[in-house]
Amino acid sequence: MNINKTLLTLSLSATFLPSLSNAGEVEVLHWWTSGGEAKSVQELKAMLEEQGHSWKDFAVAGGGGESAMTVLKTRAVSGNPPSAAQIKGHDIQEWGGLGFLTNLDDVAQSGKWDDVVPTMVTDVMKFNGEYVAVPVNVHRVNWLWANPEVLKKAGVGVPKTLDEFFAAAEKIKAAGYIPLAHGGQPWQDATVFEAVALDVLGSDDYRKAFVELDMDTLSGDKMVEVFTKFKKVHDYIDANSPGRDWNVATSMVINGEAAMQIMGDWAKGEFTAAGKVPGKDYICAPAPGTDGQFTHNVDSFAFFEIKDEANVSAQKALAATILDKDFQEVFNLNKGSIPVRTDMDMSAFDQCALDSMATFKASAKTGDLVPSMAHGMSTTSYAQGAIYDVVTNFFNDPNADPKEAAQKLAKAVKAAI
Ligand code: GAL
Repeated sequence: MNINKTLLTLSLSATFLPSLSNAGEVEVLHWWTSGGEAKSVQELKAMLEEQGHSWKDFAVAGGGGESAMTVLKTRAVSGNPPSAAQIKGHDIQEWGGLGFLTNLDDVAQSGKWDDVVPTMVTDVMKFNGEYVAVPVNVHRVNWLWANPEVLKKAGVGVPKTLDEFFAAAEKIKAAGYIPLAHGGQPWQDATVFEAVALDVLGSDDYRKAFVELDMDTLSGDKMVEVFTKFKKVHDYIDANSPGRDWNVATSMVINGEAAMQIMGDWAKGEFTAAGKVPGKDYICAPAPGTDGQFTHNVDSFAFFEIKDEANVSAQKALAATILDKDFQEVFNLNKGSIPVRTDMDMSAFDQCALDSMATFKASAKTGDLVPSMAHGMSTTSYAQGAIYDVVTNFFNDPNADPKEAAQKLAKAVKAAI
């Protein structure tokens, strides 16, 4: 046991001491099954076990968490929810409204969560003013990951705008590489779509479209342009993309089969797990045209009402551990995200994380910090599902018309809300 972990155990134990008699079990549902993700969640398990509790892993594979949410609903409806589940954004309110979640205010008060986590995040973690969830991290979604050797062989630099991206992609294709590694799953299509939308619409209209669900913006000329450019992106992915997992797409960039991937910084977790160094083996850059903008995706765990006293004590220990400084550091180093606490020493983090933190802070001031639609931050799961359907159908239909797609988008959202 290292000294930091010993101190962690002591400091957490002071608040929620798990004596042998109240050592309990937490069952934790999550979808962190890729290399980098699994390493990250393993840290949480280890720190909980060091406090005498046991961890029952409830992993449901599938990036973006759609399958995990389906399984969770079945378990909850049958009256047997896990202790904690990876639930994010608007979904927390939906679960709170159904009466499933438990109050964590005692843990929050002793950990001073209100003082160390931005209000914009704590607001989402509370239902009716009470903490029911704990944030883990801040992911930036609008990133471009690139293999510098492949770019060099194709004679191109890192594209800063969408026009540069398309020009570079042509050359990469001509040089015999796949320009964009992509996994054809609805959430991945939506991740690329929102990156294009952030550039074309700008932060204010992005917010109008995906937060306010403004019909004119959803069906307007700029949205037609978003679909037009999004369609062009399809020219630069390979034929085997449908169904591919996101981390398999990342490995294509790692091994030099593909030049780039547009994906949130959980992709960095894959580069890290493969022993790759940013700036040398790979490049992290803002998604084309979105420098200074930040699409955020905050992971969190919501806690369910359970009865067994020992398990409640384990549950509280888990909640406290998630916001512990040592955990925040080691977890986020592996996960590719930045800590959600504002009082962290960032000296162990790499340049990508430092850039992310600087842009996170600056964008909050300029109005360029926006919630991710693709990752459940900007709107309800109903509106998100409607957007996913239109976006995915459009992307996979070579004859789809951008103008019609924008109209369909507004109609589908209207029907969902
Ligand atoms: C996101 C989640 C990330 C990452 C990704 C791929 O929804 O917030 O933490 O795990 O899915 O699985």
